[in-house]
Amino acid sequence: MKIPLLYGFLWLMMSCVTKSDKIKPAMNEQHRPQIHFSPQANWMNDPNGLIYSNDTYHLFFQYYPEDIVWGPMHWGHATSKDLVHWEEQDIALYPDRLGYIFSGSAVMDHENRTGLGSMENPPMVAIFTHHEPEIRKAGGTGYEKQSIAYSLDQGKTWTKYRNNPVLDVSGSTDFRDPKVGWFEPEQKWVMALAAKDRVQFYSSPNLIDWTFESEFGQNRGAHGGVWECPDLFPLTDTDGNQKWVLLVSINPGGIHGGSATQYFIGDFDGQHFIPDDEHLRWLDYGADNYAGVTFSNIPEADGRRIFVGWMSNWDYATRVPTKKWRSAMTLPRELHLFKDKNGKLQVQSKPIAALKSLKNKSISISEANNKQIAPPYLLHFKYPGDNPVILQFENELGQAAILEVDHERLRFDRSNSGATSFASSFGKVHTIPLSDIALESVTIYIDRASFEIFINEGEKVITEIVFPTEAYSKINVLSESINPTITPLNPIWKPISADVK
Ligand code: FRU
Repeated sequence: MKIPLLYGFLWLMMSCVTKSDKIKPAMNEQHRPQIHFSPQANWMNDPNGLIYSNDTYHLFFQYYPEDIVWGPMHWGHATSKDLVHWEEQDIALYPDRLGYIFSGSAVMDHENRTGLGSMENPPMVAIFTHHEPEIRKAGGTGYEKQSIAYSLDQGKTWTKYRNNPVLDVSGSTDFRDPKVGWFEPEQKWVMALAAKDRVQFYSSPNLIDWTFESEFGQNRGAHGGVWECPDLFPLTDTDGNQKWVLLVSINPGGIHGGSATQYFIGDFDGQHFIPDDEHLRWLDYGADNYAGVTFSNIPEADGRRIFVGWMSNWDYATRVPTKKWRSAMTLPRELHLFKDKNGKLQVQSKPIAALKSLKNKSISISEANNKQIAPPYLLHFKYPGDNPVILQFENELGQAAILEVDHERLRFDRSNSGATSFASSFGKVHTIPLSDIALESVTIYIDRASFEIFINEGEKVITEIVFPTEAYSKINVLSESINPTITPLNPIWKPISADVK
């Protein structure tokens, strides 16, 4: 009797191990982000359909499941309870006879205005672009149309609407990336859509019938490339007034040449967006935060406006030296408005509070260097207020990423940061002006393949990816008078322990 029992016990143990291995495969390859979402395998670009529902955050994303370069687009899917630990799910949307599934958004149709669910079980509705590559290749027009799909099981399975597309404008060319939000004063949905060199606004009572309202931007902001992935949402300013923020990604023509996200602050009356000024604003001053948008359906009582971007750049995204997958998302960031030194409103991007759950006990730089601490970790210091601070993150091969910061500017040098030769535009020094804010503190989230530098808790953010051949194991302070703290972070791919929400 004893022997079969023992075997039974061993079998149970082994099957548990196999099962959990299956759910959480080792996410530990060279360059694999440890505190950022990346797909287990293959190509990913923009975040899509960011939505919170039933205690779960959903991250859909542009995904090509058959290669590590861009191809026929699907919507991949991952879920999280805390925006920190992610579980990859089955693919949500597949290409079909209307084309590839390009970027878009998701909302909860609480009142079942689409009629695609019921009041008891309202549909989750994805609004996305159908892209027909053959028409585009042949130089035709009308190759991008807006369509919808719905899920009645909280995003697990999806059905495309039978009368797709729901918005098709003949003669249109670049016409994509619908971001839909509820406009409470007029009880209607509003869609911000990228239309070549501008954003168009459409409205709808039911997500199916769309009416053109207005357009914005033809002669505003940066225009070095096509406009993509807009997002329009309200934020409260420092005087307690409601303002509207319009995010617009642009490629090329970003702050460092390739892709980047600019934004406008102004008012929106349900029809028109009127910017406060002509000032050019960038959401992130690094090279690697693109196509980011914010979550829908966060309860009003919570009130956070949470942003996630794609942590790459079209200049080199398809060539970065990862073998099994390509790209990661940025850390989720909470957006707020603040007034800069000139009294101008700007968006502040704070890393979300839930990241605290990854923290271990803080140590000094010398302790970190003694231990040869490897990413992921957090580095924080207060700016002493005089000379430039220079920090060098170095590995045993002499590869290093160098950060230099003072009141006037920040310089991030990745020219000798590791693998750089995959694209001539990659190994550069990026200089960012800081004179419009009062530099007080620097907080850096350092992962195996990225730096996210938050100045004054996100009054200015710089996101940059790197590909060191070996982990940076030494932090050199090449200037005096700072005493940074280093906080080792737990990888998110570890099973969630009971004390982590
Ligand atoms: C932005 C973008 C979107 C488009 C998607 C295609 O990175 O070009 O405009 O919908 O990627 O994958």
